[in-house]
Amino acid sequence: MRTIDWVEQAAGDGAVVIVDQTALPHEVRFVTLAAVDDLVDAIQRLAVRGAPALGAAGALGVLLAARQGGREGWSDDDLAAALDRLRRARPTAVNLAWGVDRVARRLPDGEAAVADEALAVLEGDVAANRALATRGADLIEALCGRRMGQGGPGLRLQTHCNAGALACVDVGTALGVVRALHERGRVARVYAGETRPLLQGVRLTAWELDEMGADYRVVVDAAGPSLIARGLVDAVVVGADRVAANGDVANKVGTYPLALAAARAGVPFVVAAPESTIDAATPGGDAIAIEDRADDEVVAWQGRRVGPAGAQAVNPAFDVTPCDLVTAIVTERRVVRPAAGDRPG
Ligand code: MRU
Repeated sequence: MRTIDWVEQAAGDGAVVIVDQTALPHEVRFVTLAAVDDLVDAIQRLAVRGAPALGAAGALGVLLAARQGGREGWSDDDLAAALDRLRRARPTAVNLAWGVDRVARRLPDGEAAVADEALAVLEGDVAANRALATRGADLIEALCGRRMGQGGPGLRLQTHCNAGALACVDVGTALGVVRALHERGRVARVYAGETRPLLQGVRLTAWELDEMGADYRVVVDAAGPSLIARGLVDAVVVGADRVAANGDVANKVGTYPLALAAARAGVPFVVAAPESTIDAATPGGDAIAIEDRADDEVVAWQGRRVGPAGAQAVNPAFDVTPCDLVTAIVTERRVVRPAAGDRPG
């Protein structure tokens, strides 16, 4: 099962198919998106989410636009406007714009070239995740050597949000690393932050950990740093939405406090992300646009207001972890150590 894919339909038409992540874990529901604005809407309501999956959505969205434009007789301006809506559907994960731009460059070469490029983005994501999962597992084994000896107690890992197969085309980044360690028999327990306000941790990461048969506990976000302080965590491993050239890392809000606690406790803080998440054009975290989401996600619960009428919220979806707190960034090609002065961009 891929989180996002392309299906050919009758008469040369095609559509994007996603697993609707708003329905999980209770229902595995596939949604077919045959128009660019349906895909934009799916991205904005987080039916498809996670940086690499957004890269795939951007890539397939260009193919979708090419097909829809042909069907509906779009002008060049119509096509450009549709791609712009797609590119801007969410601002923080650089992969979305990366996927759109990579495939849009092939538009002058015709639809077959666009299709090839879009599908290559999906294959590339799976291959990148496999490679970085192995490299990340090797790194964490090396960093946490003392608990890894034969018959050792095994690792206690902490993660945040969902950086699993659901956040990618398949496999996962941070959760791909966890899976690789689990398959080596190295994992004693995984702590998963519940991820307020949209609960990607308890809904999605818990579901993936359950499927893989790992021992896990969900913790409220505010408890994560104190678990680290209490000595219950051997390594933190998270994904990223954008890595700036200097190694600052934007990821789901609540990541930064984990990094602070990890640095203070001397626990490795590892970021697992494909090269497509590294944005050499963004010099540092200050330049990363942080998505602000609606008040209702915070002051209401399942459609019912829980705060007083008129209560407003500040609802940033991401935070930035400064590079000096990042022990390592693991990609499909390399390990970069920002806290030691390495720069990825
Ligand atoms: O708002 P979301 O659910 O799209 O946020 C996702 C995250 O913050 C992930 O950790 C990140 O995209 C990496 S996914 C491999």
